[in-house]
Amino acid sequence: MLRRIEVQGLSKDFTLHLQGGQEMSILQNIDMQVDAGECVVIHAPSGAGKSTLLRCLYANYRASSGSVNIWHDNAWVDVQSAAAQQVLAVRHDTLGFVTQFLRVIPRISTVDLVAEPLVMRGVEKQQADERAEELLVHLRIPKRLWHIPPATFSGGEQQRVNIARTMIYDYPILLLDEPTASLDEANRATVINMINAARERGAAIVGIFHDEAVRQALATRIFSIPAAQSVNLVAA
Ligand SMILES: Nc1ncnc2c1ncn2[C@@H]1O[C@H](COP(=O)(O)OP(=O)(O)OP(=O)(O)O)[C@@H](O)[C@H]1O
Ligand SMILES: [Mg+2]
Repeated sequence: MLRRIEVQGLSKDFTLHLQGGQEMSILQNIDMQVDAGECVVIHAPSGAGKSTLLRCLYANYRASSGSVNIWHDNAWVDVQSAAAQQVLAVRHDTLGFVTQFLRVIPRISTVDLVAEPLVMRGVEKQQADERAEELLVHLRIPKRLWHIPPATFSGGEQQRVNIARTMIYDYPILLLDEPTASLDEANRATVINMINAARERGAAIVGIFHDEAVRQALATRIFSIPAAQSVNLVAA
């Protein structure tokens, strides 16, 4: 299976509605390709548009121009122009995204939340729960927390639940926005190993990591984006 993401001519402008409709250009004409077995780290100053770029790759943000082609189900899909239904299919089968924050689903226990991606794909509940519990042990989530919803967990605990929930399924392509930001050293090392293992099994990975040591441990290539030009494209 081909695992590849191809970004062509991607630009993103934001319209600042509270500033009289001024436009700000954040990303300009980005070209990027990421292949199986690569971990490409987006490196740029704070505010340059790293998270914006990842959100465009996941089609959370609609780019102002350009394409994001993802190899999915034996064909290229441009998630920037694809219909919503197809974007959801790409996210389901091909594209995993770990953000810095967990989207908590009320009343669902931690084990159920982590196991859900496998259950959704037809894995038997008990088997999915066992795999989820393995990951929770691996990521040092205390057993007393497994059967309560993660809404009240600490930032680092929520982040680890989030990582477990994505890593439980072998996504061909992974997008990672500072997945180790709130972790202590031991957990950071564990997550670095998990990400490297995913790359070694052939995942194509695009990530943002503020920490220099983490970048060193993970990056097969650094992708720089220029600092955002805080120019107004259109004066209102
Ligand atoms: N939805 C939005 N509407 C308006 N402006 C936005 C929006 N999302 C991001 N921006 C702006 O785009 C710029 C880039 O933001 P982004 O979050 O991509 O930066 P970043 O490189 O990830 O920074 P950091 O390293 O601090 O996380 C910022 O100036 C931000 O204010
Ligand atoms: Mg960011």
